[in-house]
Amino acid sequence: MKVLLSVVAVGLIGLVAPSAQAADGAALAQKGGCVACHQVDKKFVGPGFKEIAAKYKGKGAEAALVKKVKEGGSGAWGAMPMPPNAGKLSDDEFKSVVDWILSQ
Ligand code: HEC
Repeated sequence: MKVLLSVVAVGLIGLVAPSAQAADGAALAQKGGCVACHQVDKKFVGPGFKEIAAKYKGKGAEAALVKKVKEGGSGAWGAMPMPPNAGKLSDDEFKSVVDWILSQ
């Protein structure tokens, strides 16, 4: 029983860290109102977060994406513009939510 419990405990420690981060990203996307236009798995008003990750992951695009999310813009995915989101989240939160999007 003791052994089983410690196995479970170790398993939980391994699980808690990444899922806490994922919850933060999702919570920030809620808080910033991103989910009004974006879903994780599919295109909605704006591109799905997984599509965005597939396009930019590993390409050092993070800073440019943070700027675009704050200032808004169009042309990367179609004619539909993303309005500016500046003020909805702090700079750190924009960076975290973009990191989270790119990790999808
Ligand atoms: C009113 C709708 C709307 C809201 C709210 C919105 N977006 Fe967008 N988003 C869009 C659209 C439309 C595009 C596609 C723009 C384009 O084609 O360049 C987009 C594109 C993006 C991109 C890709 C940009 C690129 O250059 O490829 C990212 C990243 C993104 N959004 C993140 C966010 C985050 C984070 C938030 C919340 C802080 C957010 N969006 C809020 C509509 C929205």
